[in-house]
Amino acid sequence: MKKFYITTPLYYVNDIPHLGHSYTTIAADVLARYKKSKGEDVYFLTGSDEHGQKVWKAAENAGKTPKQFVDEIVGRFKSAWDKLNIKYDQFIRTTDEIHVKTVQEIFSKLLKQGDIYKGEYSGWYCMPCESFWSEAGPCPDCGRPTEIIKEETYYFKQSKYQAQLLKHIESNPDFIKPDSRRNEITQFIKQGLKDLSVTRTAFPWGVVVSEDPKHIVYVWFDALINYISAVKNNNIWPADVHLMGKEIVRFHAITWPCMLIALNLPLPKKIFGHGWWTVEGKKMSKSKGNVVDPVALAEKYGVDAVRYFVLREVPFGLDGDFSMASFIARYNADLANDLGNLLSRTLTMVEKYFDSKIPNTKNKIPDDLSKNLVELTNGAPTEVDFCMAQLAFSDALSVVFKLISEANVYIEKEAPWAIAKNGDKEKLAAVLYNLCDVLKIAAILLSPAIPESTEKIWRQLNLPVSLEAAAKDPFGIEIAGVEVKKGEILFPKIQK
Ligand code: ME8
Repeated sequence: MKKFYITTPLYYVNDIPHLGHSYTTIAADVLARYKKSKGEDVYFLTGSDEHGQKVWKAAENAGKTPKQFVDEIVGRFKSAWDKLNIKYDQFIRTTDEIHVKTVQEIFSKLLKQGDIYKGEYSGWYCMPCESFWSEAGPCPDCGRPTEIIKEETYYFKQSKYQAQLLKHIESNPDFIKPDSRRNEITQFIKQGLKDLSVTRTAFPWGVVVSEDPKHIVYVWFDALINYISAVKNNNIWPADVHLMGKEIVRFHAITWPCMLIALNLPLPKKIFGHGWWTVEGKKMSKSKGNVVDPVALAEKYGVDAVRYFVLREVPFGLDGDFSMASFIARYNADLANDLGNLLSRTLTMVEKYFDSKIPNTKNKIPDDLSKNLVELTNGAPTEVDFCMAQLAFSDALSVVFKLISEANVYIEKEAPWAIAKNGDKEKLAAVLYNLCDVLKIAAILLSPAIPESTEKIWRQLNLPVSLEAAAKDPFGIEIAGVEVKKGEILFPKIQK
């Protein structure tokens, strides 16, 4: 079986990870867990982009050698991913020997076949974005000042592959997603691709060009190669999906495919550029002092609160805004009130009316309210699959939370306490059975996004198979007769 190969960008390690880096990495983790839950063989790659002028400058400012500096920051990234419950298969560093060697081999091959040639670069450079611009003025991507540079350089003949790339994009509508990004890229290519400067000489921190050691490989040309150098030994290229923020789609959807075409390698199946997070309407930046630390948030409110918030709050592909007020509002409404309450109310009633055993009954659909809830429960897995196929994380979560919220309404309308008073044990059994079934399906469907909490729900339901096994056959487990074990409150309400 071919592995489903998912990647995140390799983040620059000039500073510690913030909410934006976590967003892409959490999304990749959720997709990886979801695919695994379906029985697919998944490979999830993340890592660090360690070369380039920006990292070199940051190390200098910190009074450290670049290697010392990146080693420390890489540690911070890895520990953030651990704390956010991110289970990647590999963390590649662009300073890894296998990567450096692969970059040199690829450079040599393209040089030999005439796709890389020597010249001179004269133009502008944005150091924060590590990108070249032909026009003077602030960086068109980030708005920060650019610097003029004039250097001997090697160029990659990107222009030669323009027609082939355009044809590929036009005949593969799922190659660049969402469609708005695809349209931007198509327009950009149609204006005419220029060859790309792929070496620098002004500073020494990068992969050395073997044929001309005063040159180092341009950081983007170096970093993009990670997606193949990382899997050199397990033969799983092409990637099924490259996830990233919208600002770097251009490198992934133009330069990278042109490099792959020149190397005669298959192109990735999908490049997805999600939106950008601002904080209370402003761009996140150290100088503004508004950088959101996902680890601190997770430590205070729980890792699943962070994972859930970022994926539920904003449709994947659109921009979003973070504020403590919206974080707390969503946590309290969805996690504490809807999910947390459903679990605790349901299990309390199973304890009280059925001696903690999930009841059984011949007629599980005694009325229209039950019919509606059972239909929603049975339809939820297919609906979630449909959303996940489009990486619509927010919609997938919203399907499950709609079910949870309907289940809470069901409790209010059925009023099991009143049924118990009337002595209709059969109907009471049906209602509580249906509620436990909602909890089972919700735990299965939410487990990729909030794995720690769904494990807790699973322990309280006390079902005889693992959550992982149940995910492969959600309707195959019999819940009737299982003795539940009501436990701690899942999501204590946050007092404002
Ligand atoms: O671009 N909102 O690294 P980088 C959403 N090294 N996502 C954000 C974000 C925000 N405000 N800020 C960052 C690079 N991200 C290159 C990549 S890949 C071969 C080389 C996320 O450290 C988002 O995924 O600047 C974005 O694309 C990435 O971090 C940029 O990380």
